[in-house]
Amino acid sequence: MTPYDAGKPLAELAAELGLPELVRLSANENPLGPSPHVLDAIAREAARVHLYPDGGAVALRDALARRLGVRPGQLVVGNGADELIGLVALAAFEPGDEVVVPQPSFEPYATSVVLAGARAVLSPLAGYETDLDDIRRKVSGRTKAVMLCSPHNPTATIIRKAPLLAFLDALGADPPLVVLDEAYYDFADDPEYPNGVALLARYPRLIVLRTFSKIAGLAGLRVGYAAATAETCDRLNRVRAPYNVNRLGQAAALAALEDGEHWERTRRHVLEERRFLSEGLQKRGYTFPPSQANFLLVKVPDAAALRDKLLHAGLLVRDGADVGFPGHLRISVGLREANEKLLGIL
Ligand SMILES: Cc1ncc(COP(=O)(O)O)c(C=O)c1O
Repeated sequence: MTPYDAGKPLAELAAELGLPELVRLSANENPLGPSPHVLDAIAREAARVHLYPDGGAVALRDALARRLGVRPGQLVVGNGADELIGLVALAAFEPGDEVVVPQPSFEPYATSVVLAGARAVLSPLAGYETDLDDIRRKVSGRTKAVMLCSPHNPTATIIRKAPLLAFLDALGADPPLVVLDEAYYDFADDPEYPNGVALLARYPRLIVLRTFSKIAGLAGLRVGYAAATAETCDRLNRVRAPYNVNRLGQAAALAALEDGEHWERTRRHVLEERRFLSEGLQKRGYTFPPSQANFLLVKVPDAAALRDKLLHAGLLVRDGADVGFPGHLRISVGLREANEKLLGIL
């Protein structure tokens, strides 16, 4: 196992480079930051940090349940979606189990499988797309789960509704768990993008993951959730630490849910700037899969050199080689100023 390398702190990196500021376009964060209502809620809650948080995240789960049209018992809140990936592995994966994981995809899937002593069966992408046919062929009697990511990280492509339903139906009457990671759900605007939560009633082995890190700009507070059957949630709760989501995170997530305007502002910004970046990149002759997320995976001639050039100009992007796509850069959608600067350099 190699430890996850999140890179140097931004300020340290900027100081090393002698730059007054470095804009991070490498972690798919929210360029608008959190809502002002969230900041107020955090300030109010700060006076209570000597008290343990609500271990059941009752108020947050109630609000989420109302929004999503599920019961509160069908939700587990985690310290980021990251924690929930780990909890699924802890609750369900055993030595001898196989878990089918698209390759490449979000690194913690395979890591959690290995940590649980199970075996990750890798399914290569078909170009930039999740290859559901290949995944289906790799499902065997030993398969405990299938990991799916839509929009996918790092390709930003989605799994459309018809192929997803056909895939889920083809798994038969005794299917493995299917973890559908929808961390970038709010940025997808393809009319054929399915809402995983709406599929729970029909597919009880489905576990949908979402997060407040991206759309709500709460990456630093670590709040994500799983939506699944009450039985699955019960199993996740058995392996969850009692106070896994801190008090400020719960208050902030609740306030973020109540501020629909900021949610929508972020979504509009990402969609508009994604179009701006896509058009600018196309004009310059770059190719990339059309993005349904808040980042683009762009094919470039010399990724390391280009990343370095951008870095010295104050823009930090991800070298695709670090996320399984050598010869590419993964670039988060930023504010207009950063996006213009990026296009100017490219
Ligand atoms: C596909 C995917 N899933 C999950 C996460 C983790 O989200 P969180 O910040 O809630 O742990 C990320 C973060 O980048 C991601 O890209």
